[in-house]
Formats: sequence, C-alpha cells, structure tokens
Amino acid sequence: MKFYVTTPIYYVNDLPHIGHAYTSLAADVLARYYRMRGMHVMFLTGTDEHGQKVADAAASRSLSPKEHADSMMENFHDLTLKLNLTNDAFIRTTDDEHKQVVQRLMQQLWDKGDIVRRTYSGWYCTPCERFWTEKDLHEGNCPECSRPVEQIEEDNYFFLMSRYANRLEQHIVDNPEFILPETRRNEVLGFLRSQPLMDLCISRPKKRLDWGVPLPFDEDYVTYVWFDALINYYSGSQYLAPEIFRLAACDMDEGADAVLTGEGGLSADVKEGPAPPWPADVHLIGKDILTTHAVYWITMLMALGLPLPKMIFAHGWWTIEGRKMSKSLGNVVDPAYVVDKYGNDAFRFFLFREVPFGLDGDYSEASLVARINSDLANDFGNLASRTLKMAQNYFSGEVPKPGAELTDDEHELKAIAEGLPHRVEGVMRVLKFQRALEEIWRLLARANKYLDDQAPWKLAKDEASAERLGTVMYNTLEALRVLALHLHPIMPDATQKLWQALGLEGQLSTTDLFGSASWGGLKPGTKLHKLENLFPRIDTKKIDTKKKKDDKGRQEKKKVQENNIGQQNDDGLINIKDFAKVELKTGKVLAAERVEGSLKLIRMQVDTGEADEKPRQIVAGIGKAYAPDDLVGKTVVVVVNLKPAKLMGVESQGMLLAATGDDGACVILTPEKETAPGLRIK
Ligand code: MSP
Repeated sequence: MKFYVTTPIYYVNDLPHIGHAYTSLAADVLARYYRMRGMHVMFLTGTDEHGQKVADAAASRSLSPKEHADSMMENFHDLTLKLNLTNDAFIRTTDDEHKQVVQRLMQQLWDKGDIVRRTYSGWYCTPCERFWTEKDLHEGNCPECSRPVEQIEEDNYFFLMSRYANRLEQHIVDNPEFILPETRRNEVLGFLRSQPLMDLCISRPKKRLDWGVPLPFDEDYVTYVWFDALINYYSGSQYLAPEIFRLAACDMDEGADAVLTGEGGLSADVKEGPAPPWPADVHLIGKDILTTHAVYWITMLMALGLPLPKMIFAHGWWTIEGRKMSKSLGNVVDPAYVVDKYGNDAFRFFLFREVPFGLDGDYSEASLVARINSDLANDFGNLASRTLKMAQNYFSGEVPKPGAELTDDEHELKAIAEGLPHRVEGVMRVLKFQRALEEIWRLLARANKYLDDQAPWKLAKDEASAERLGTVMYNTLEALRVLALHLHPIMPDATQKLWQALGLEGQLSTTDLFGSASWGGLKPGTKLHKLENLFPRIDTKKIDTKKKKDDKGRQEKKKVQENNIGQQNDDGLINIKDFAKVELKTGKVLAAERVEGSLKLIRMQVDTGEADEKPRQIVAGIGKAYAPDDLVGKTVVVVVNLKPAKLMGVESQGMLLAATGDDGACVILTPEKETAPGLRIK
C-alpha cells in the first residue's frame, strides 16, 4: 500500500510563518503515521517560483527572478529542517524536469482541443495575477485583494474547464470524502451550482510577463502561474519519487494504469513493476486555495485522463491574538522562533491539540505555554519521569516482572491501550488530529490515575507487596511504551527520548504499529535508562518581552534578504558602518524611455556627477506610476555602488530610491530643494 501526501508549494516572496508550518507539519504527521503503518510513503513539499509577483520582487532587488528565487527558497528549505520534517523531496517549479512535464501536459491538452486561443477583454489584477469580469469586481476593485484592476484586451489561451463542470460536480457528490471538511465540500458544490463554470485563461503574453514556463505551442506566451504550480503534485510524483516506488511493487489503485501508459507517466518497461505514487492520497491545503485545487486542478486532471487525488483537505486559518497575520501589523509569527524557544515537539503538539483540523484557530504565546504546562509538563512529562524514577529506585533500573493476576483497574488500562490503534486509525483517516490526541490522552489520563490509585510508593514500603509493586510498575511502563508509539508522529523527539529511557533499542520506528503496540511488548529484565525532564514547566512571566525583541530581529532579517546589504547584529540592528556601505548620490535624469515589451520598466540615463564618465544607465520598475517624460529633468536618489544587474536583458548600473506601498503604488524620492548631481547622501 502506498500513501502520497502533498503540501501547497509556497510562494518564494514570503518568509515562512506559522501558517506555512501548519500545513507542512500536518503532512509530516500523516507521513510519519503511515510509515509506521507499513505503507510506502511519499511526502512532497516545495516552492512556487514563477509569476508576476516573483518577477516584480526580483526587479526591486535588481536580481534576476531565478537569483531571487534561489535566495528566497532557502527560507522554506531551512524550515523543513527546523521542523524536523520527513519530506521525501522538495520540488521547485523552476526545476527543469518540472517544466518539461508542464509543457508535455499542456501540449497534450492543446492536441486534444481542450486548450483554445481567444481574444479576451477583461479586468486584470496584477498582484493576484487573475482576470475578473465586470460583475466580479467590488466597487471597481479586485474582489480578492481590493486593489485596483486594469482593463486588458489581448489574445490568450484558455483551458476549456467548462467542459468538465458536470463531471466534477458528480465526482464530488459521489465521493463524500473527496473534499474535507464537509463545509468546504459544500462550498465547492455551492460554487459549481450557483453559476456556470467559466473557461480558464492559462497564458500570459511574454511581452507583459516572461517569468514562467513557455507554452510549447506558442513561444510568445508563458503559462499562468497556477497552471504551472498545480502540476507540481504530478510532476514531483514522477521525477522525485523515493527509491521505494522505483524498486518495490506496491498496490496500485484503479485507474493508475493511465499513469503508467499515459503521456506523462513512466515508460512502458516499468509497467509490470513498481508504481509511481500518483495519484495523491491527500492534498493538504489552506482554505484560501480551495477553488484552485478542487476546481482547476481536478478538471485539468480529468482532461488529461489522469487518476484523481483521493482527498483534498482544506484546513483553517490561524490568526494571531485575534488578528489576521500580516506584515504591516508586524504580528507575523516565525516558526523558527517558536521552535527555538519552546521546542519542536511542543509547537507541533499545540497546533494539533488546540484547534480541530479544518477550523480556524488563534495563536498566542500564552495559550501555547498553557498547553505545555498542563498537557505536556503535568500529564505526559510527569507520568514519564515519575514512573522511570520509581522503576530506578524500586527495581534497580530494570523492567519488573508483572504478576499473573490482573485487577479490574488493570483490565481497564489494558483494554484502553489495546483499543487505541483502531481508534487512532479511525480518526487519522479523516485527519482529525485533535481527536487522535484526545484518544491518546485517555490512555495517558488512565495511566496517571492508575499510578495515583495504586500508590507504588506505599507498596514499596511493604515487602509482602513486592509482586503487586512489580505489576503496577510494569503496567505503567508498558502504557508509556504504547503512548510513545502513538505520540511519535506528533512529537518525534520526546517520544524518541522516552523510547530509549524504556530500554528499547535504536530509533523508535516500526512498520507495524498495530503489532508493536500490542500489550505486553516490554520485556521484563530490560535495562531502563535515565530520562531528562521531557517538558519542563514554563514560567508564564517570561512570555511577552522576549517575543517583541525577536519580532524586531525577524523584520531585520527579511530586510537583509531583500536588500542584500549590511550585516545583521544579534539584536537585529545594523551599525553605522553597515549603513555607510551603501553609497547614495543625487542624480539628474537626462533621458528616459520604456524598455521594449515591458509595462513596468523604464530605462534612464542619469548623471550622477562622475567626472569624465558617461551617464549611468538605470532601469527601474516605475513605468506604471510614471511616464518617461515625467522623469526627465528630475533629481533622484541613486544607489551607485550596487552590482550591475540585467532586467529584461537591459543592464542597470544602480538603483533609484522610491517609496512603495503594499498596493504597488510608487513615488520616487527627490531632494527637497534644487540640488546638483553627484552629491553624497548620508
Ligand atoms: N503558491 C500558492 C500555492 C500553490 S499550490 C499548487 C500559495 N502559496 S502561499 O505561500 O501563499 O501558501 C499558501 C498556504 O500557506 C496556504 O494554503 C496555507 O496552507 C498556508 N497558510 C498561509 N497563511 C496561513 C494562515 N494564516 N493560517 C493557516 N495557514 C495558512 O498559495
């Protein structure tokens, strides 16, 4: 049996925050769980690197889009390590293999007549990279981000998505677990039933945007970023599948033959042998990207004749202390900060215990600490440490032999432990992580109560109770072993430590969770080891002040990444020497013209006062806010010691300063009075 789970691929323009960490961690929990169930698992995550926003951000850093993506994707790659993710691969949409698959699938749709060319006139939102009809607009602005839209008329290529509307609706109706949770399923059905499904514009003319995968049948166009991005789930399953899928045969799902024999699939010679992991068993996404997955992606697969994923699960949204997370509010929570301060396991536990997967949740450091102190320190850590300490004291650190007779309490403890694998399985299948933890906590609570009721510290005082003492300690140690197994996917580090303390060899790993968890697995006589305090209690007074300091550090880190200037000190500030490295001068714009084929870029000749030298050529992305003629004669502020960079093939020997708003509005900076060119600004 195989299990293939994916996360959305993250936009490289952002720094990772807890929203991204959430999806990736959920995928990790599933991947770890199903590996422990003996399945062949593929867990894929990665980055989404094409499109307008990336091209714009790169231009503002005077980098090529690829250079920009290379530096920014590292943040997401580092996150996989920080969160202890067990992803099998990390896909980038700039991988050559991915681009080839995108082109092959596009060609297939074109040959089949599912892509056509049409003249399109409509409203376009550049930041969202989406077309809208007049009636979609909200007070003339983009319905998604409320920013201004532009009227555009141009030829484009359309995927005939409308052809698949009925089939899509039927598939959702026939498969109640295809889209989960149910509210999201109803949302998609409501959307499909409330309006006719439109065809999807899947190209952008290169003259407007060239940072994308070229259409194989028209070199003047690139692929719409979502069309390219969604295909990662399939392309990754082809060229990044773990070895196991290439070596060992695994059960194939119905319809998977299409993958093996189809255009995009593996070559015919593997038909007899191993199967690639496609189709995905679970696409994990946030609720914000439900339509693109449940409608665009699924109709694309239908058109391509590829098997459909088994489930799309759209989880809820995290707010921060009741407010939306946003850069401008400065409340973005860095997962690395949380992990460094409270540990990976506590963070993982909190995210899945606090909120039912699928609903929105609110993050605050105070609620995280409250969970650590109550559930982890009091319930779990405490049970583990007192049990192991008593076993050290009463049985010289060896697992005692239990007596043959079981009391009612012991029967009950054993029954809860024996039922646990099934109960966890039932809720994990539909991604109810919180319910899984509640089930596990029933065993934990029962074990704590058992220990309190049996009071081994009293039994230890009476030699005649030696056998009872052995039984009580054995049962509690065995409950801890079963708990470690079940908690492992959520808290891999703490459970590994507990595993070793229980004298169990090597890594906590099994491919037969049910078998490993069966009662009585702990062998009497096994040597136990010391266990450090797994979850020390946290002093709640320490919560807030430190956080503020860290947020500041994070903002500086981002600045450094975006601007490539200066060294960051420990406190997140740069010193005057760092600032002095940036040479700013006044410059007079002598000439300006648009860069051919670009709406945004303007090429200027600027006099920055260098004696005997030609004016400096500067290319800036200000063409939407300024006409070239408005610029000639203006005195501007220029960074003169920036490495030259090429923007759409035109060299830029510096950068001019401009204030830019979130809405993309941009105002260039000029001196307050008439000023000669070439003056140093400091
Ligand atoms: N690049 C697209 C996805 C393409 S998938 C083929 C994209 N990227 S993103 O960087 O914006 O990340 C989106 C995902 O991050 C969301 O779907 C969700 O999984 C996660 N989250 C981002 N912010 C979030 C919260 N505030 N809360 C929870 N998850 C959120 O969209």
